[in-house]
Amino acid sequence: MIYHGLIHRYKQYLDLPAHSQTVTLLEGNTPLVPMPRLGRELGCELFVKFEGLNPTGSFKDRGMTAAISESLGRGAKTVICASTGNTAASAAAYAARAGLRSIVLIPEGKVAVGKLAGAIAYGAEVIQIQGSFDDALALVVEITQKTPIALVNSINPYRIEGQKTSAFEICDALDAAPDWLCLPVGNAGNITSYWAGFKQYGKGLPRILGVQAKGAAPLVLGHPIEKPETVATAIRIGKPARGEQALEAAHESNGGIIAVSDAQILEAQKTLATEGVWVEPASAAGFAGLVAETTQHKIEAKGKRVVVVCTGHGMKDPSIITESFTTPRVIPAEYEALVDAVG
Ligand code: F0G
Repeated sequence: MIYHGLIHRYKQYLDLPAHSQTVTLLEGNTPLVPMPRLGRELGCELFVKFEGLNPTGSFKDRGMTAAISESLGRGAKTVICASTGNTAASAAAYAARAGLRSIVLIPEGKVAVGKLAGAIAYGAEVIQIQGSFDDALALVVEITQKTPIALVNSINPYRIEGQKTSAFEICDALDAAPDWLCLPVGNAGNITSYWAGFKQYGKGLPRILGVQAKGAAPLVLGHPIEKPETVATAIRIGKPARGEQALEAAHESNGGIIAVSDAQILEAQKTLATEGVWVEPASAAGFAGLVAETTQHKIEAKGKRVVVVCTGHGMKDPSIITESFTTPRVIPAEYEALVDAVG
């Protein structure tokens, strides 16, 4: 069966206005990768929903196909977003596809190189803000209230509609919702989308574990963070726009929102790679949270079906790896030298 993108596939479940004109890069339909070795270690049946395999390398493409389709159909000429990087690259790609102008605001010096390169490659006008993601978000909200520029951050309800489809895909693949769904939480659009998606689809409800980074954990601490800090720059967010809905999803699903340290995040990134899945640091937060909770016996994962959402590809943030490894050894281009080196 030819795949036409997620709006086509799940049209009947998506509340998109009639004026939408579908703009797609065939996003979604990402693999639910079984992780038998790590699952055995944790005592559960473990899967990774590998969202890094979307067209621009992150889950943002699900919401962006919907938001850009609506903006285009409405007659918008320019779209704008604040971003820690992935939304920027996704908005830029879908705007390019639609023939729209895109402007992206990013926190100065805090965006991973693969994301910035993507936004530029797709032709976005990139503006760095001397401030945080939260400052950038406030600015784009203001300009879209005062001008016809369309906002494509996840405050835009169509972003949520598009992102619900990942929950549908998981239910379709497993023929039911999993027992647990673990995912990183930044601006809290994604956790909101998953919960809405599972509730709507009617194939059961998972318990949801949302995971923030310790230095950027407003939902765990119960108050905004003025200067969020974490190695997981994607979720370096102090005032999540959909924070209330994230707390509701955790509460209603009988799950929770927890924080993990940068060290735990980087360890989780390494561990996932040992089973062949390389994700960017923020993306590994869901798995880090699962490991932390099962180790402390706060989650009883034994015999349970657990889906960890890995939101962005490892190639988005190569420096996190390249800055920590020693340069590979150099040998002469001779067979003997190779034999020596291999040992
Ligand atoms: N994982 C990755 C890789 C992200 O890029 C983001 C958010 C999240 C998780 C958190 O998702 O915000 O819906 O809770 N990135 C946004 C951006 C903020 O601008 O790319 P959320």
